[in-house]
Amino acid sequence: MSTARILVTGGCGYIGSHTIVDLISSGYEVVSVDNGINSSFDVLDGIEAITGKRVVNINVDLSETEEALEAIKAHGHFDGIIHFAALKSVEESVFKPLRYFRNNIGSTLTTMQLMEELEIPHLIFSSSCTVYGTPQKLPVTEDTPFGRAENPYGATKQTGEILYDQFFRNRQAKSGISLRYFNPAGAHPSALIGESPTQNATNLVPVITETAIGVREQITVFGDDYPSRDGSCVRDYVHVTDLARAHTLAIEHLLQHKNDNRYEVYNLGIGEGVTVLEAIFAFQDATGVQVNYKIGPRRAGDVAAIYADNTRITDHLGWKPVQDIQSIMQSAWAWEKARRK
Ligand code: NAD
Ligand code: WQD
Repeated sequence: MSTARILVTGGCGYIGSHTIVDLISSGYEVVSVDNGINSSFDVLDGIEAITGKRVVNINVDLSETEEALEAIKAHGHFDGIIHFAALKSVEESVFKPLRYFRNNIGSTLTTMQLMEELEIPHLIFSSSCTVYGTPQKLPVTEDTPFGRAENPYGATKQTGEILYDQFFRNRQAKSGISLRYFNPAGAHPSALIGESPTQNATNLVPVITETAIGVREQITVFGDDYPSRDGSCVRDYVHVTDLARAHTLAIEHLLQHKNDNRYEVYNLGIGEGVTVLEAIFAFQDATGVQVNYKIGPRRAGDVAAIYADNTRITDHLGWKPVQDIQSIMQSAWAWEKARRK
């Protein structure tokens, strides 16, 4: 499948931009829809430098359904949608739940309207391991039931999945996949694109690189009294280029009608747990740069440990992660240096 046209929502964001690179490298034609609410359109230059292709971005708010439909209609037929567009700050969502409900659930509804009105057959949705809440058993399989949402952001991911499940159930010619990401991190090896948070970084890997470059004084490790190898929390860090690849495989799976069900869900993690302290040491080993850190209190709402059982995605989509925590740290560091120049 090489000439299919894919609409990528949130294509100027962190994961969307890396996925566009993977799609273009795999022969797809891509149009992005992004209103820049959490990104810079400069990322289109980075994508062009890597792929040699200038991607068109439609600058419209997807939560404004009518306006978005009008703007997107003008760009012709699409064979699939990969839906990244969402606000993703857990912290902010606690203070502004309605902003998150409107933006994230509103945009998700728009994607369904687009599929109906523009006859787009397939969709991939960015879900999250946050849908599991606090898992009782590790590693987490896709059969693990949703936990109570820890915050409004998590509720928007659960809601998205519930709505798509119902939507695809009764649509003969349509199909969809939710990919439940664990902890995306790292950057493209060219250091031409990466994560550019418009707000202060709160995720561990950018916090480490910002400390290394001197923007922050030190990293606070949120707790060392968890029941883990060294007392710090365990997560499944997945390289963003591996993550991006999974989207190309997922859309291909639907385009080639390899799906068993009209709606499927897949965990997207490497299947290994890494502690916070191990992540810091991996950064130091991979880059030779030492970082200041101190042990602080636990962060409210943190799950002690979560990592994926990725059997389903490796078996059904043929996905295989090829990057490890060292290359996550190397690429994140190269990007941190490049973007501060
Ligand atoms: P990001 O903020 O870098 O990218 C999201 C993009 O969507 C941004 O460019 C933003 O401008 C755009 N956008 C948001 N609302 C929009 C709207 N209403 N209309 C048009 N554009 C809009 O985030 P990311 O890290 O690339 O995340 C992509 C997706 O993956 C999100 O749905 C996020 O919830 C999900 N996810 C991310 C992580 C993570 O840790 N990064 C983990 C699990 C799931
Ligand atoms: C990772 C680990 C922290 C910063 C969040 C969202 C989740 C998903 C991914 C979207 C934790 C520790 C962190 C720091 C630290 N997003 N840490 N000091 O919390 O696993 O997941 O992003 O769906 O929904 O909740 O990621 O990168 O914030 O934290 O010790 O300064 O690093 O306690 O154990 P998290 P994270």
